[in-house]
Amino acid sequence: MRKVTAIYPGSFDPPTNGHLDLIERGSHIFEELVVAILRNADKTPLFSVGERRKMLEELTAHFKNVRVDTFDGLTVDYAAKVKAGAVLRGIRALSDYEYELQMALMNRKLRPDLETVFMMPAEQYSYLSSRLVREVARLGGDISGLVPEIVEQRLKAKLDPAYKLETRKVKAGKA
Ligand code: PNS
Repeated sequence: MRKVTAIYPGSFDPPTNGHLDLIERGSHIFEELVVAILRNADKTPLFSVGERRKMLEELTAHFKNVRVDTFDGLTVDYAAKVKAGAVLRGIRALSDYEYELQMALMNRKLRPDLETVFMMPAEQYSYLSSRLVREVARLGGDISGLVPEIVEQRLKAKLDPAYKLETRKVKAGKA
């Protein structure tokens, strides 16, 4: 069988346990997996690209065949740049299908030799999205179990001024 490099493109704002589940699954079937964060100037993200990259690097450090990168422009051009033969995307529910199908077929039109491979995350993550995690965290809801612990801490630090103050005090030995 051919050894294939795949890219896993996305916004990852923030990375969730669903993303991590997919990265692990992808790492088992591809020779190399590049987690590619879109640098999208149009959006106003919660976490900067640098912050997201740092989190994903920490979270994937134990996978020997996974690396993290950022890109802008077309996904197909980035895939060509890193010599990837496949794009990995997750499909959670039927509602994802239409958008993902459109993207996969447009990418195929742009670069016919690039395959999109869909994988399903574990069912406990089938309702999970970065957008919902941001919303629940912003409104003070419990996001434990939905995102890795370092992401939970960084979300709290970003959204809860009291938590930020407390962490600073602990660091300074004043708590
Ligand atoms: O995590 P997301 O926001 O669902 O990821 C969407 C992403 C980054 C995969 C998609 O927006 C994308 O590929 N953007 C790059 C620009 C591009 O290639 N557009 C044409 C896609 S058919």
